[in-house]
This record gives sequence, structure tokens and C-alpha cells, in this order.
Amino acid sequence: MSKLKAKYDVIVIGAGPSGCACAIRCAQLGLKTLCIDNLEYGQNKDSLSAAFSNAACLGTVTLLESAKLYDALRNDINSHGIYAENISLNLPQMIKRKDRILVEIAQTVAKIFRNHKIDFINAKAKLLDSKIIEIDSKDQSSKQKINAKYIVLAAESTPISIPCAPVDNEYILDSIAALSLREIPKRLAILGASVIGLELAGIWNRLGADTTLLDAQETFLGLSDHQISREAYKVFTEQGLELRLGARVISTKIINKKVVIEYQDSDGTHAIRVDKLIVASGRKPNSENLSAPEANLLLDENGYIHVNENCRTNLPGVYAIGDLTLLGPMLAHKGMAEGVFVAEQIAGVHSSPINYNIIPNVIYTEPEIAWVGQTEQALKSLGNAITVGIFPLSMNPRAKSAKITNGMVKVIACAKSDTILGVHIIGIHASELIAEAVLAMEFSASSEDLARTIHSQPSFTEAIGEASLSIKNRGLYSIPKNFI
Ligand code: NAI
Repeated sequence: MSKLKAKYDVIVIGAGPSGCACAIRCAQLGLKTLCIDNLEYGQNKDSLSAAFSNAACLGTVTLLESAKLYDALRNDINSHGIYAENISLNLPQMIKRKDRILVEIAQTVAKIFRNHKIDFINAKAKLLDSKIIEIDSKDQSSKQKINAKYIVLAAESTPISIPCAPVDNEYILDSIAALSLREIPKRLAILGASVIGLELAGIWNRLGADTTLLDAQETFLGLSDHQISREAYKVFTEQGLELRLGARVISTKIINKKVVIEYQDSDGTHAIRVDKLIVASGRKPNSENLSAPEANLLLDENGYIHVNENCRTNLPGVYAIGDLTLLGPMLAHKGMAEGVFVAEQIAGVHSSPINYNIIPNVIYTEPEIAWVGQTEQALKSLGNAITVGIFPLSMNPRAKSAKITNGMVKVIACAKSDTILGVHIIGIHASELIAEAVLAMEFSASSEDLARTIHSQPSFTEAIGEASLSIKNRGLYSIPKNFI
């Protein structure tokens, strides 16, 4: 720990997406910055890369790419007139590829840190007061106090463990271990059919696991626009996922190397036996032991740190960003935006506040689900008069050429002003398509603006133009409602 200075302009605790973005922006603005993270780094010699490469979302999308390829080779390739014989799967190699890609991405971040002369240390940090942190070396052999003018808490979150399904990472896995299985389970269950559960199901189901999702909620993907959730339910069920809703897991036992899961639904108590169970029951902020009691940092009963709209905590000069707070959703890009925003406040640079109403949400399944703004059900429940335009991807020429026609684009606008209030997509590349809607909403565009924007033909993006056109019944590819 000797290379550290006794005093910094900014100390960022946490080297996840939010912390890295904050540290980089601080350094760009000329602030002497230290970033601290306490993650284990196993075989990866570079501790900073290890911290960043732990980002579960990157691992999920990397593995999903492999799973989609395998699935397409087994199930879809012949329709192209291509015949591949003896397709087989080497799971350890697939996992290794994922790990290597994550390390490469993380090494790039480490390089950026070095370029900006950001100090980094792999240790456990604790806030002692608004200007001092204490760091513990990994082996607990030494402690050191460091001063900073500003401190940014960016420790992100970890999976919630629930007593009825204690994670052992052999039979009952958390969502991180679920990205590094050594063999494909014949029967897999996932507790939680929300974002993480569905993403992991999409991977292992494609690789051949017979996959059942159990969720206590009666409504599938309740946060999304309900029309999109219904379509998702239909598509995922057709893909072979067994979705059991209103099914609350009450106990698990390991018997003869199998997991026996007991759950309750409206019909009573049931049990299923599977090879592995993945727990995807939510995430909690990593705020435990992040601050000494005498620091008096204000947290709520669930461990979320109290902040105002500028990410300021109750302690002067101490900010909290990313998954640690209840400002906006638990998403990497939300935390990154906050990291930049906080760095600019510290440096005294003019910065617009974050518009939490225009943060894209993405679920990395296939088809992907992405949305920005409000849902139809939320707007209607608030009594808003709205207009809605929908375009099914089955009518999009590019989707037809790729033979991936599941899904739709839905644009919701204010009936009076025509301002776009929400855009919801289920379909191929939804995570990319949503960017156009985010930009449009950032500039308070109307559905007419989107309708008159020229989209390349043929492209998936045409579906956004078409959905906007169909608000006023002008869709070029849409079949008018009275014609069907
Ligand atoms: P979640 O909180 O969205 O869903 C957890 C689900 O588990 C709930 O539907 C709940 O009903 C169910 N559950 C809990 N206990 C249960 C029990 N005993 N029996 C049956 N069901 C039970 O949590 P999730 O999916 O783990 O995601 C956590 C957070 O991470 C979310 O805020 C999500 O947005 C974020 N995230 C987002 C990603 C993305 O944008 N692609 C990727 C990774 C995380």
C-alpha cells in the first residue's frame, strides 16, 4: 500500500461500471483520484481488470452469443441450405472464451486508468468520516488511513441470498456462478423469472438444459409494458421455457446429488427435482461495513444509501452512485451516468442533472426486450390520454430476411401534444434499436418526428418509423385495423 498518497482530491470506492466511469471523468477533469475495490481476483494477475470483469451483465451477453450460435447451428441452419455435421459442444471452452473476453474488456479499462494516472488498490475500504477512509489490506495485516476532499461510494450490489435456497455454488448457484457451470444440467430450475432469471434461462435452455422458472409473482415481467410481457411470455414458452408463476419457493434440500425444491402456488404445495437451481431473487446494495457507525451515513432499512437528486449523501462531500441508491433502476449505464455527473459536480463543471425518466432498460434475452419511458398501463392508470402505435416485426422486411420475426415495436405518445412518452420493443437487437427512442425522448420529440425520420431500408429500425406512422394510421407496411 506504500505507493498511495496521503491525500487525494477524490477517492472512489468500487471499481464497477459506476466507479470506473466516475474515476475516469474525475481524472479527465484534473482531479487526483484513487479508486479502491476489494474483489477477489483469482487467476487474473491484474486486480483492477478483475474487478471490472466481474460485471455480470457482460458475462451474460458474451455467453448468450455462444448459446445463440449453438442453437442456430442445431435448429436453423438447414433452412439456409447449409448443412453442418456432428455439431458438438465444449462447455469449458465456451466458458473460457467468455472469461477471456471479459479479461480483455477489463484490461482496456485498466489501461485507461493507467493512462489517466488514476491510482488503484485492491483492498477493503471503510468510510470513517466525510474526509477519511480506512483501508484494510487483503490479508488484514495492515490498515491505513487516507484523506480526500471528496469521497464517492460506488460499491454496487450483490445477489440477495434467501434462507429457503442457501447458495452453495455447487447445487444451488447465485447468478455469478451460473455463468461458469462446468457441465450442462439435464434439469435446471431458476428461482425468479425476472431480468436475471430470464437472461440465464435463455442461455442454459439453448445449451440443452430442461429449464423451469419459478416466480412468486402472478404477473410475468410486471415492470414492462404488459403487451410486451404477454408477447415475451408467449415467445419464451414456445422456446421451451417452463414458466411457473405464482409459485413461491419455500424450501430446498440436496438429496442424492439433486436439488429438491418445494414451492407453493394456488393449488397447494409441490416439489420438483433438478440437477441445479439458480437463485435470481434480486440484488441488494453492497453497503454493509462500507461506513463506520460513527460516520453517521444515512441508510434505509434495506441498506440503500440516502441521496438527493445530485447523488449527495447526508455527509458533506460524500456521494453515492449506482446500485447503492434508490435513484433510478439498478442498471450499469445509470450508474455510469451518475459517475460522470458526480465527477463534474466535484470539479465545478456545468452538468445537466440526470433525467431518470429517460433511462433505457434492457433484458438480454433473445428476442431482447428494451424500453424507455412509461408503460401503457402506468399512463392509463394516471389518467393520461395517449395514442399508441404498434408494428409487428413479422411485417419488417429485414426481420423476414433474417427469419427472426418474433416481437414488435410499440410507441406511445401524448394524445394532445404528440410528445413521445414511451417506446417498448421486444425483438432482435432491441437493445440497439432503443437508442433511437432514447435520443428522441431526450430532445422531447413527437411521434411525428420519429415517423418522419428516414430509416434505412431494409433495416430493423424501420419498425420504429412504422410504429410511429401507425399512430396516425399511416403505416406503409401496416395492414389497417379495419382490413384484418
Ligand atoms: P428482480 O428483483 O427483478 O426479480 C426477482 C424475482 O424473484 C421477483 O420476481 C420475485 O418475485 C422472485 N422471488 C423472490 N423470492 C422468491 C421465492 N422464494 N420464490 C419464488 N420467486 C421468488 O431481480 P433480478 O432479476 O435478480 O434482478 C436484480 C436487479 O438487477 C434488477 O433491478 C435488474 O433490473 C438488475 N439487472 C439488470 C440487468 C439488465 O438490465 N440486463 C442485468 C442484471 C441485473
